[in-house]
Amino acid sequence: MENYLRNINKELFFELKTLEKKIKFLLRYAILAPSTHNSQPWLFKITSNSCKIYSNSKISIKEADPLGRDLYISLGCLIENLTIAAKYFGVYENIIYRLNEEKNLVAEVFFKDNQKKENIDRNFEKLLEVIPKRFNARGLFENKKIEEEVLKNIVLVNSDKDLRIDFITEKEKIEKLSGLTAEGLKIAYLNSAFRKEMSGWINNNFSSKKRGIPGYALRMPAILSFIIPTLIKFFNLGKMLAKLNYQSMVSAPLVCVISARNNSPLTWLKIGRLSERLMLEFNLTGVKTSIFVAAVEMDDLYKKIQTIINSEYIPQFLFVAGYMDFQPKFTPREPLENKIIK
Ligand SMILES: Cc1cc2nc3c(=O)[nH]c(=O)nc-3n(C[C@H](O)[C@H](O)[C@H](O)COP(=O)(O)O)c2cc1C
Repeated sequence: MENYLRNINKELFFELKTLEKKIKFLLRYAILAPSTHNSQPWLFKITSNSCKIYSNSKISIKEADPLGRDLYISLGCLIENLTIAAKYFGVYENIIYRLNEEKNLVAEVFFKDNQKKENIDRNFEKLLEVIPKRFNARGLFENKKIEEEVLKNIVLVNSDKDLRIDFITEKEKIEKLSGLTAEGLKIAYLNSAFRKEMSGWINNNFSSKKRGIPGYALRMPAILSFIIPTLIKFFNLGKMLAKLNYQSMVSAPLVCVISARNNSPLTWLKIGRLSERLMLEFNLTGVKTSIFVAAVEMDDLYKKIQTIINSEYIPQFLFVAGYMDFQPKFTPREPLENKIIK
């Protein structure tokens, strides 16, 4: 299954005869996007020339994501993967955000049929190829800086004045942001409803579940992966988890904060697109990325982030980047067929 998921043979695209089949092929890249707790909160309806993207209302993460911000960011990450794939194969037409038009409908991506191999856009080749390789890199980073040149190029990805990217490389500020993340986790784990919800999203290392985070992705040894979810449910492990997250985050040479002028589902979709694009850009230079949203989500901690980045924009997403010589087993994905509304 992992092989089918991640080993996507690009050449097969050109053998597909209908646009519908091509859209399905592109969705194989889309569903490799990161999502909160690997919840994969998306559903698709394929028309003759488009793919409608819906949020899956059956998936609820109301304790960790009361505003729905992470839901829309996850959907944005998916949309970014889909458009990168469509642009590479030369079939991208445009996207219309369709929030509030129909229940759970989020956006519609339009495609043009294009049989010719000459129409591929090589500018997107590396980004496309890195989609199946990206993973959320938890653990300690090497003590190695990311070159300024890499950062200068990556920051250019954003052209939206309502969104803002801050790359933080000063040790002192990284320590402060890591401290806020630890604080956020401690606050979250004080709430028993949060703990109960969280424990339901962590699977043991041998689970056949295709949704949720396997213990191995959290660097848990097999035995612990059977025990920790239950412990999380009944005991407050906040202090321990805060310490582990702090150690991981503070070891990174770079923290990236993405903020926006306002809070709205459309903004969050755009934040998700930009974040996924940035993470892919890092990954294709060999830099690994890891997401930590506790400081953005919990209480008023975001105000302290605003002070650190010296901006009034609202922090929406945070990830760290750095070098890590570790190749994990990838997280699973639900079969694409289960995600397509007939
Ligand atoms: C909006 C959003 C918020 C996330 N927040 C966290 C987080 O706070 N801590 C964490 O370890 N992972 C976080 N993740 C990473 C997901 O757990 C991860 O993407 C998912 O398990 C799938 O694994 P993969 O990214 O390796 O494919 C977040 C992902 C998204 C999209």
